[in-house]
Amino acid sequence: MTDALYSVRNLSVEYGTRQGPVKAVNDVSFDIRKNEILGLVGESGCGKSTLGKAMLRMITKPGEITGGQLLFGGHDLMTLSSREMRSLRGSRLGMVFQDPMTSLNPVQRIVDHLTETILAHEKTTTAAAARTRASELVERLGIRRERIDDYPHQFSGGMRQRVMIALALALHADLVIADEPTTSLDVIVEAKFLDLLRELRDEFDLTIVMITHNIGVVAEIADRVAVMYAGRMAEIGDVREVFARPLHPYAEGLLKSVPNIELDGQELYKMDGSPPNLAFTPPGCSFHPRCPKALPICSDQVPVLRSVRADQETACWLYDDQTVEIAR
Ligand SMILES: Nc1ncnc2c1ncn2[C@@H]1O[C@H](COP(=O)(O)OP(=O)(O)O)[C@@H](O)[C@H]1O
Ligand SMILES: [Mg+2]
Repeated sequence: MTDALYSVRNLSVEYGTRQGPVKAVNDVSFDIRKNEILGLVGESGCGKSTLGKAMLRMITKPGEITGGQLLFGGHDLMTLSSREMRSLRGSRLGMVFQDPMTSLNPVQRIVDHLTETILAHEKTTTAAAARTRASELVERLGIRRERIDDYPHQFSGGMRQRVMIALALALHADLVIADEPTTSLDVIVEAKFLDLLRELRDEFDLTIVMITHNIGVVAEIADRVAVMYAGRMAEIGDVREVFARPLHPYAEGLLKSVPNIELDGQELYKMDGSPPNLAFTPPGCSFHPRCPKALPICSDQVPVLRSVRADQETACWLYDDQTVEIAR
């Protein structure tokens, strides 16, 4: 893929546990395209947060990246030193965590977080100019300017997440990975926040990976969607294509179980079973024990992600013998 901003190749991440190694990310490969919003979805525990952190090499013990390449800006990030990686995180890559309290320093005011970043990044800027820029950024994110002198604990969860985004903007980050950034927001604030993210993407030329268990959020904001199951990529493609015609039975089940407007009044689908314990992933396709369409091969061999339609790839044996169908 020529327009890839970031490519993940055969990435695996394991956590050492008493039950043995938990394969939270298992041989995952995909591309993130420049300027897109990619929604990363899947049931809880399927490895989304681990994948997001691994992409910034922020996995900490007992976790470890056990293999793969992270291709960004002409480098395999796996070959960089921790120092080089830190500097990249302080410049081109940003992350908005589920709970930003852990990434904001509780004894530093919001303004200090921002000006520190701005001054580190724009060496020619004065402290006063950095303060003005910090106020502009928080205002752009819908927080009153005066509040930049507050401390993180004086902010709500949603406001702290917006501060994290302001920080990513202050970095002029190319890629922002946002992990469940809307969970602490009510529906109205969430809708505004999603609009804002889209605007910022255009204004600041951002590429955003939005990790969420909320399919509605993905429908609202994403250009493409990636569906993970049990540490692997089940399907990835154009959001309208995947929502209209999901290929993988897991993607289909996941989408059918979401209340949406078209299905209004119909009974909500409930997928049978639950995701496996990743210390004991089933052989073959890990979804086969729950799959209504499983074939004999599914319990035996792992399907690889392959292109089935123009902008839609899936890892599923059902499509093994289908020639690539070029839509339209
Ligand atoms: N620090 C950790 N130690 C051990 N296992 C972990 C740790 N963090 C995550 N896991 C395991 O890795 C798997 C994937 O977790 P996670 O990436 O948080 O999934 P998601 O974000 O999709 O909910 C889960 O089985 C989880 O229990
Ligand atoms: Mg998570």
